Amino acid sequence: MLRRQMNPFASNNASATTATITVLPLDPPPPYSEKPYIEKLEGPRRLSSPKINKIANFFITSPKTKSEAQSAATALKLAASAPYQGQLNAPSPQIKSPSLSLPTICLSTSHTDEPPTTLWSPPSHADARRKAKEHAQFAPLGHPSHRYTSKHVGKEFPEPLMDEPPYYYLLTTYISYLILIVFGHVRDYFGKRFRPQHYRHLQARNGYAPLNSDFDNFYVRRLKMRINDCFSRPITGTPGRYITLLDRQSNDFNLHFKLTGTTTETLNMSSYNYLGFAQSEGPCADFVEEQVKKYGMTVASPRGDVGTTELHLEVEDLVAKFVGKESAMVFSMGFATNASSFPALIGNGCLVISDELNHASIRFGVRLSGAMISMFKHNDIKELEKVLRNSIAQGQPRTHRPWRKILVVVEGLYSMEGSMCNLPGLIGLKKKYKFNLFVDEAHSIGALGPGGRGVCDYFNIDPCEVDVLMGTLTKSFGANGGYLAGSKAMIDKLRLANAGSIYGESPAPAVLAQISSALRLISGEVIPGQGEERLQRLAFNSRYLRLGLKRLGFIVYGHDDSPIIPVLLYNPAKMPAFSHEMLKRKISVVVVGYPATPLVSSRARFCVSAAHNKDDLDRLLEACDEIGNLLQLKFSSGNAGGALPLPEGVTADMEKEWKRTAKPQDLIEYQRPRWKLDEILKRGVQDVKVPLR
Ligand SMILES: Cc1ncc(COP(=O)(O)O)c(C=O)c1O
Repeated sequence: MLRRQMNPFASNNASATTATITVLPLDPPPPYSEKPYIEKLEGPRRLSSPKINKIANFFITSPKTKSEAQSAATALKLAASAPYQGQLNAPSPQIKSPSLSLPTICLSTSHTDEPPTTLWSPPSHADARRKAKEHAQFAPLGHPSHRYTSKHVGKEFPEPLMDEPPYYYLLTTYISYLILIVFGHVRDYFGKRFRPQHYRHLQARNGYAPLNSDFDNFYVRRLKMRINDCFSRPITGTPGRYITLLDRQSNDFNLHFKLTGTTTETLNMSSYNYLGFAQSEGPCADFVEEQVKKYGMTVASPRGDVGTTELHLEVEDLVAKFVGKESAMVFSMGFATNASSFPALIGNGCLVISDELNHASIRFGVRLSGAMISMFKHNDIKELEKVLRNSIAQGQPRTHRPWRKILVVVEGLYSMEGSMCNLPGLIGLKKKYKFNLFVDEAHSIGALGPGGRGVCDYFNIDPCEVDVLMGTLTKSFGANGGYLAGSKAMIDKLRLANAGSIYGESPAPAVLAQISSALRLISGEVIPGQGEERLQRLAFNSRYLRLGLKRLGFIVYGHDDSPIIPVLLYNPAKMPAFSHEMLKRKISVVVVGYPATPLVSSRARFCVSAAHNKDDLDRLLEACDEIGNLLQLKFSSGNAGGALPLPEGVTADMEKEWKRTAKPQDLIEYQRPRWKLDEILKRGVQDVKVPLR
């Protein structure tokens, strides 16, 4: 129960000669839970007894002067607030329940009729709960130095080096899949004969063809099902810095799950919440609430009918300005933006040259369009040039007429690889071969560039150089939907030709309000500095975690500034093992395998957010260090970074010469990064600010 005592002897008279500091204990606030604790607090307050305070005053040694009183008070205030701050910054209110007794500090004199001066009183339980909830969604910044500006440094844009594990791991990965496939077929063979009722849905019956073919879903039944508990975990609450999982269990090997009724709060390394806007409180949530009161939940119509409010026009204008284009249009779904836009942009006689790792929505849309499709190796500018030259020289199949249009389609940031497109290289080719360029910025908008304006901003390239900028509003803006931005003529045409916006429902007002408020915050139009802080925290966190993982010895894919950090696991059995070990340590991660990745390169994918702080990343690095040793995941040869610092006396200029003359054994040890965790945490902050080794 809260007890805040008034000191009847106290005075706030500056000339008081006898000042006392009364420190009174408080009950610890309860661990954060959805049920408001404030109700408990609002009961009748017990007033302090003057007698107790007189006795307390009698024993207290008091500073004699006002300045003494103030400095003592400041010292006490600091001392008292330090543990409290720790409590608010604790990894999770549910994970570590606070057990602190917090003091109220009063300045009082011996005159009994004057009220005391309260120098500091701890936040009320309601405040503490509110703060804890706020920090569970968005962590306080640990130190002002934990910021970095995301931008391309240097002239050349290097291809990220892809390290490879020893052949032993590749071999065992193939063998694992082989065993799983053989076992799967043997089980199917006997199952169909001895338990036919379990296979009814896969076989023809009464003249009806099966809706599911057993070959098509072999992978799902015999491989994915084994580790299904790692996927689609149900959650509750906001997916911010922490995410709350609804615990579940299966008694039939992951065929069905039952909720146990309990929850687990975990550090969230799995949501696409790059700038931390997935919050239930704060300026964006307030604005959304206000707009919902004005516009309601839905406009109940497609855009072309009566589904265009001034909010839609305002958001389109904001998006166009943000990405640096003449005009933009928004859609209620990111996937549908691509799926419905390609058929409106291209058709028969056109050629699409697509990066081999482009997202399913791009593939889907391009296939619908009827255009010819060519592919090039991921991010390989030389191969793209070869495909371009060949396609231009050959023209359309059979007729060899020139192509009506050539559209090169890439993503700004690849969500499985963590790699960025080589925009300067693409623009160079575009000028030479005169094709149109489409960049899908689903993951790069808001996440890259000093102003968060995507890859053009990151490389300091004029957005006019790119013909179509597409992006989703799901990832960085904490909203939903997608946008297309380009010249006014193109967008005007798309408004009339895009089936998604003609026949599909218009984006909902709440979603638009979230997009609008997030964009205004990022661009600094409201609460100047907050958007910049989010962007810089994301950039710092991304580099810090990546460098730490490389130094621990993991194979990490992608570019240094990418907030998507894939850590390679290879063996299929290591996917569930990694996920379970992380969950034991109360960390949620996404593990990804075939068909989202090539068969052998299963991985865990960390999604960094501005909502994390360094403590969170240190906690993750510690967990990775332990699990990496446990599961033998530290495969890195050092080729792709993370090398030890050069020996004493060897500078960066001397590195080449030193490598030439060093003993092969020294070189291997130096090259193979297996840093100690303490050393990584100690040097991380300073090292992320320089080009990563
Ligand atoms: C490159 C790319 N484009 C489009 C989409 C679809 O966006 P949404 O999830 O907002 O529908 C995604 C989704 O992750 C994506 O990665």
